Amino acid sequence: MAKTVKDYIRTIVDFPHEGILFRDVTTLFADPRGFRMCVDQLLAPYAGMRIDKVVGLEARGFILGGAVAHQLSTGFVPIRKKGKLPGQTISQAYTLEYGEAVVEVHDDAMAPGEKVLVVDDLLATGGTAEAGIKLIERLGAEVVGCAFVVDLPDLGGRRRLEAMGMEVHALCA
Ligand code: PRP
Ligand code: ADE
Repeated sequence: MAKTVKDYIRTIVDFPHEGILFRDVTTLFADPRGFRMCVDQLLAPYAGMRIDKVVGLEARGFILGGAVAHQLSTGFVPIRKKGKLPGQTISQAYTLEYGEAVVEVHDDAMAPGEKVLVVDDLLATGGTAEAGIKLIERLGAEVVGCAFVVDLPDLGGRRRLEAMGMEVHALCA
């Protein structure tokens, strides 16, 4: 049988803390067929739609978002953990499956009215994506889709983003 995207992802038990089943996408990214299949499937629902910017969430969203932006011929914007971006930023705090953090975006990275696709490797509680979406909306841009490789449905991220009116696309659970 042909391999699916999920087949390329390995699970590491108890990383970074006891009780976490860490979905490791480095094995997916390292495989030429797996990586291409993953990028193609991530962007497929958005073919023909107006998208001005792809936003990638640190860190694995940068790898995927860069490839998706290149394929869609859009710009790419990073949303980074606090203190990494050199220019003027706006910030948003959030809670993770295993911790707390703040994300930031350059305040001139998107123009009001721009259509944005958010890309990340994994949706767990949805805290990271929600914080990213809030930053994008605070700049006046519009999120037209949120694309993830993995959705961990028990952690409620999809419900959380859909409750904000978001369209959520994920390749596997
Ligand atoms: C992971 C993952 C998502 C986020 C999902 O990143 O890549 O960005 O967690 O979790 P959530 O839906 O509960 O917010 P992580 O925070 O481990 O950061 P990293 O990619 O910089 O290691
Ligand atoms: N980010 C949050 N939860 C995760 C998990 N279980 N695997 C990989 N990245 C994650």
